[in-house]
Amino acid sequence: MLKQDLVLKKDKFFEKIETLGLALSYGDVRLRTSHSEIAPSQVKLSSRFSRRVPLKAPLISAPMDMITEHKMAIALAVSGGLGIIHRALKPEDQVKEVSRVKFYLNGLIEKPICVSPKDTIAGVLKMIKEKNYSFRSFPVIDVKGKLLGLMSSNDIEFCPDNNYRAGRVMTKTKDAVTAKGAISFKQAYDIMRKNKKKILPLIDKQNKLVGMYVYSDVKRIVSGGSPWLNIDANGNLRVGAAIGVGEDAYERAGMLAERGVDVLVIDTAHGDSKAVLETLKQLKKDYPEIDIVAGNVSEAESAKRLVQAGADGVKVGQGPGSICTTRVVAGIGCPQVTAIYNCARALRGSGVSICADGGIEYSGDATVALAAGADSVMLGQMLAGTNEAPGEVFMRNDLPVKKYRGMGSLAAMQESQAAKERYGQKYSGQDKLVPEGVEAVVPYKGAAANIIFQTLGGLRSGLSYTGAADIKELQAKADFYYISSAGLSESHPHGIIMEKEAPNYLGRI
Ligand code: IMP
Repeated sequence: MLKQDLVLKKDKFFEKIETLGLALSYGDVRLRTSHSEIAPSQVKLSSRFSRRVPLKAPLISAPMDMITEHKMAIALAVSGGLGIIHRALKPEDQVKEVSRVKFYLNGLIEKPICVSPKDTIAGVLKMIKEKNYSFRSFPVIDVKGKLLGLMSSNDIEFCPDNNYRAGRVMTKTKDAVTAKGAISFKQAYDIMRKNKKKILPLIDKQNKLVGMYVYSDVKRIVSGGSPWLNIDANGNLRVGAAIGVGEDAYERAGMLAERGVDVLVIDTAHGDSKAVLETLKQLKKDYPEIDIVAGNVSEAESAKRLVQAGADGVKVGQGPGSICTTRVVAGIGCPQVTAIYNCARALRGSGVSICADGGIEYSGDATVALAAGADSVMLGQMLAGTNEAPGEVFMRNDLPVKKYRGMGSLAAMQESQAAKERYGQKYSGQDKLVPEGVEAVVPYKGAAANIIFQTLGGLRSGLSYTGAADIKELQAKADFYYISSAGLSESHPHGIIMEKEAPNYLGRI
């Protein structure tokens, strides 16, 4: 943990820039290289999105209607990052999207399919066929949800008569292996291995069934091929969800919390506003067990106010987004690298993390954002146009493209109350909207996993060039150059006719 009073090289750089009255963005700076004993493959990219939400990779997908629903959130979480489900969905649909992410790996099954003791084997077999279930083991419960026993595939297989009832063939609870209350998937794995059991029902003090682990799923997670999965203590993928302010936020937060969302993101265009601060304070009282990230802000004082109101993470970015027109429409906003640095410096030592949101065009921008003090970066445009982004591929000028639009674009605000609210226009008529974003298309990019892979590869390379083994070291060592427009031109391919796009460089659009 960095100490508050520690003056870093980059502090002097940014102080000098500030005395000139300047603020910088990604195109303005590069990082100095340094002696390195760290190969890109040795770099560790673990970080945090908020106080209690860890990341194995510092990438977050933006809560936008053309970026993050369950498919994108799964793509991020299986690669170590996190997706934030957008809020231009009805609350119940947003909860469903969270559920789809949570169900993806089948760690803890919170509501297992059960049978009644009166069900016949023939009836159960019919249900398995009709519903196309791939499993044949069922908890047997009474009408109050109390666990009476377990009916396994063997009980079904070796039953002499299909008219026998589940209550007759099951192993009674007292003879079965069960676990009390909430245990982690690792503990469940150990219990199932020790007892050679394929399912492990979890029961509460009244013997009510409260969940179930399935050995094959748990084994896949524990010993599985991917060390990158960003999973919670139950072995399910982590996922976040966006909310707004006031009543709608309280309703969503309640439903999302009940569904086990890992983090709530108060996602507004102006995070340092009364409504956000009040909503944040109230939600921290109501749901102390859930982390809340709030934003967006771009000034140190604003970041501090959010932390005082209870934020576990602060989202920084007012106007840097690729589809954003806030800076030109409203004439406000601090260029993103200075905004990140100022907010991160203000929160140094507080334990609250910074997510740099918007304006990341290349993986190198992500390195710069982390070096300036961000703990994670939020991506919109980079992930737009992938298979996992909602929406269809279509042709434009003989090129396959997908739509991408700002949540403050006219179309997004006309379609969604949440989008209007994000830009403080909740009560404006459809013909009285003042957009702060545009509607666009981006080239079709294939699987999000490829973009994530390239972005993480660029980050590893960036840390290796600076001699940093991890993000904390990068932040401590980072040394910035302010570059001229000639320096920026030199940084991009130049003096050539590009023949083929690289997988991490689509050319300047
Ligand atoms: P990108 O990665 O540069 O495309 O930026 C994505 C970010 O832009 C999102 O995470 C939001 O913070 C922000 N954003 C989304 N829609 C709008 C808009 O309509 N106007 C301004 N900012 C927006």
